[in-house]
Parts: sequence; structure tokens; C-alpha cells
Amino acid sequence: MNYAEIDFNNIDINGKEPITEPQRQYYFMAKCREWAKTKTLEIGRPLTYITQTFGCQMNAKDSEKLSGILELIGFVETDTEEADFVVYNTCTVRENANTRVYGRLGFLNSLKKKNPNMMIALCGCMMQEDAVVDKIRKSYRFVDMIFGTHNIFKLAELMYSRITSKGMIIDIWKDTDQIVEDLPSERKYKFKAGVNIMYGCNNFCSYCIVPYVRGRERSRNPEDIIKEIKELVADGVIEVMLLGQNVNSYGKTLDKPMSFAELLQEIEKVEGLERIRFMTSHPKDLSDSLIEVMKDSKKICSHLHLPVQAGSTDVLKKMNRSYTKESYLALVERIKAAMPDISLTTDIIVGFPGETDEDFLETLEIVKKVRYDSAYTFLYSKRTGTPAAVLDCQVEDTVAKERFDRLLKEIQAISAEMTARHEGEISKVLVEEVNQQNDKLMTGRLSNNVLVHFEGSPDMIGSIVKVSLKECKGFYYIGELVS
Ligand code: 5AD
Ligand code: SF4
Repeated sequence: MNYAEIDFNNIDINGKEPITEPQRQYYFMAKCREWAKTKTLEIGRPLTYITQTFGCQMNAKDSEKLSGILELIGFVETDTEEADFVVYNTCTVRENANTRVYGRLGFLNSLKKKNPNMMIALCGCMMQEDAVVDKIRKSYRFVDMIFGTHNIFKLAELMYSRITSKGMIIDIWKDTDQIVEDLPSERKYKFKAGVNIMYGCNNFCSYCIVPYVRGRERSRNPEDIIKEIKELVADGVIEVMLLGQNVNSYGKTLDKPMSFAELLQEIEKVEGLERIRFMTSHPKDLSDSLIEVMKDSKKICSHLHLPVQAGSTDVLKKMNRSYTKESYLALVERIKAAMPDISLTTDIIVGFPGETDEDFLETLEIVKKVRYDSAYTFLYSKRTGTPAAVLDCQVEDTVAKERFDRLLKEIQAISAEMTARHEGEISKVLVEEVNQQNDKLMTGRLSNNVLVHFEGSPDMIGSIVKVSLKECKGFYYIGELVS
């Protein structure tokens, strides 16, 4: 049974707690609901919550699941941290993500002193690190709940433990092979949604902490994915973003293995769905059949995010990326030969241990050869516990920063030229929102993910309209509606 069909007021909350999931969570949601009703009456106003998301789209999706559970319990969303339940869904991919969370915790403490009902929960990637949990346990004792990436579905159960006991609740799982389906989720947008197709990562790139905090790779069953997408479409969604750390290795862990290309073909068949996006693609696993499927698809967007990380084969080897500069460039050639118009974007790390000036020049070279539509650039950040953290020859900060600035300049110039190549064309735009600076303008996205602002009206939100791309302003367009 789908959770939406369950009457949470009629669950026997005095009986024994179920052992199987998701029934066990339904039981705790119902229990928390009872508690929330009483509390609401006691304080004479609705209980409020806010989820603050740090990091990637995977975390954004997890936060929607947290919001779904909180709404079902009876909390009402607010946009300030002066709330009764504040959850930080954390990231730890680079050190500055951790620093930001610690910085904000002090502020939360001051809010908690003013609101005795306030509960503070920390979850997500950062909480999977022992040192972080130790530090919070010792120095941030006002935190109510800590959980990780593998058990966010347990939010109601953990909240129930917190309200029926004293002290911080800590529940971190080292890994899991469990995928709990059929839980509520509160979408940020009516017309587009992220859909997890797999969890975890098995690649162990030597700089990256993700495999340690998100566990081993596991794919969702295609039937569950298709069912979710059909339900989303029935609920007004026309664009899905398929999420996974390495979508190109989708399906390898299934009882009946299925490739990502095959999954895409199944998703393409969902009637009413108009656009399919996905991220992230690891170049080492991108198959020729995926290129074929993309080329022939009417729904897959004209965009591929293909992180290169570095241009030098030496550095790539030390990063454990399993491809060379030449094989990456050959792959890009095959993609461009099949889809000459496709937008390519990438991630690049500058200052990986041992990166020489010559290595860096190869990164610049690859950027010039591929001509990315845009690129996310990162200064290498040392993550304790990863193989790269103990490598000799960490690059000096000033050198790394100088390379970073040089790369950014190069990328910005190329990116502006690449983005402008559609000037004058008429293109389809999925209208997303009223422009935040000028309420006469609507903001939407092209198939290649570039933003377009044009005069329109809010009733267009969630539909696909035709827009003439009048003027490119670097990384976005000013357009005009074509009726
Ligand atoms: N330092 C800098 N950037 C990193 N990334 C992952 N780990 C690190 C690190 N230790 C970047 C990679 C990845 C993106 C999501 O984050 O470029 O593709
Ligand atoms: Fe990290 Fe590499 Fe896995 Fe991406 S593929 S999450 S960079 S280990």
C-alpha cells in the first residue's frame, strides 16, 4: 500500500511497534502526530520546522523526505530558524562545508535559549564522521538529535525517542544495504522533481569522502523508480532529475541487472513526462549505448555533466579516476559526434597533491579543447581518511589559488562564448518562477539547463513555452515569448 492511502489517525499506536519497514516508521509518525497535536494545543499555535540543506542535489532530495515526514507529523514549514524543529542536512565534501555548520550552530543555540520547545537535529554526510560526532557530543550539547545518511527515513522514530527521553539521541549507521520505499516527501517544486535511482558510491576517487559517508553502491529496482515517476507525473511533474553519484553504473547490483541506458528507455515511455535529466556521470562508465539512447531520445535533455577533475593523466591516475586525458577526450569526441549541439559541463579540482605547473597546464588544455558550457571549479580540500590526505607534496595554498583564478578566467571566457551560441534561436523553456529581481520577468530553463528571463506571467509556471533567445548575458539569456 502507498503511504498516501494510509489513515495515520487510525494506526494502533498503543500496540507493539512493527519490525518491518516502512510500517515501523508509519507507526512512529502516528505516535509523533499524537504528541504534536497535544503540543500544538498546549502552546496555542502550530509547531514549525525548517530544513536547511548543505551540499548537493542528493541532499536536497533527502531534505524533501525529511520535510515530508515532518509535515505528516503536523509541523508547518517556516523560513526562519526561529522554529520548533530545525534540521541541518549537512555536507562534508570539502572542509569549508563543515566550517559553515559549526559557525551556525552557535546561532542556533542562542535561538534555543529563547524557545524551550525547540529541537535541533543534525544529519547527513558530515555526521558520518566519528570526529564530528565526538565534537558535537562534547561541545554542542544543546543538539537534540544526530543521525547520518543511511537512516534519514527514521526521523519519526528518532524524534519519538527524543521526546520520550532526556539527552542527545545519536544514531549513525556505518553502512546499509536497505532501501526503504514508500515514505512521504514534500517537493520543493510542483513541476520538477529529483528521483534517486541509486545510492552510495564504489569508486573511491582518492580525494573524495563520499564513498565513506554514503556507503556502498546500491540501485533501486526499476519498477520502484518507474512507479515513483508515474506518481510524480500524475501529480503535475513534467521534468525529473535522476540522481546518483555515478548513474552510469546503475543496475549492476540488481538481482536482474539492467543498464542505465535501458532504464532511461523505460523512463522515456512514461506518458506526460517531458524532460529527463540526470547526474552525475562518471566518464569511465559512460557507454556507447547511453550515447545512442540520448541521441534518439525526445525527452532526455541536451546536457551532460561529465566531471573531468583534472587534465593530466598522471594526476588522474593518482586520483584513481580510471581514465586518461586521451580517453576522456575521445569520449567527448564520440558524444559530440552523436550530439553536436549538446552542452557539456564539468567539475575540476585544482591543487591536488603533487599537481605540477605542467599538470595544471594540461587542465587548461582540456578546458580549451572540450569547450565546456560551464564548469564547477574547486580548490582541493584535504579530507581525513581519504588516500590523498596522506600524499606528500600538498600544493601550497598561494600556488593553488593562483592556478584556480587562472582556470576560472579561462572557463568564464569559454563559457560565455558557448552559452551565446544559441542567440537568435527559438527554444523551449520550462518556466520555473517569477524572476527574483524583476517581477515582470519569468525565469525558466532551456533543455541545456541555461537560464532564460523573459516577460511573462506567473500562470506559465510549470509549463513549457517557446522563447526567442534575444541576448546572451554571459551565463543566461534575455528572451521574448513567442506565442
Ligand atoms: N576537494 C575538492 N573538491 C572535491 N570534490 C570532491 N572531493 C573534493 C575534495 N576533497 C569535488 C569533485 C566532485 C564534486 C562534487 O566535488 O570535483 O566532482
Ligand atoms: Fe566521489 Fe569519485 Fe564517487 Fe564522485 S565518483 S562521489 S568524486 S568517489
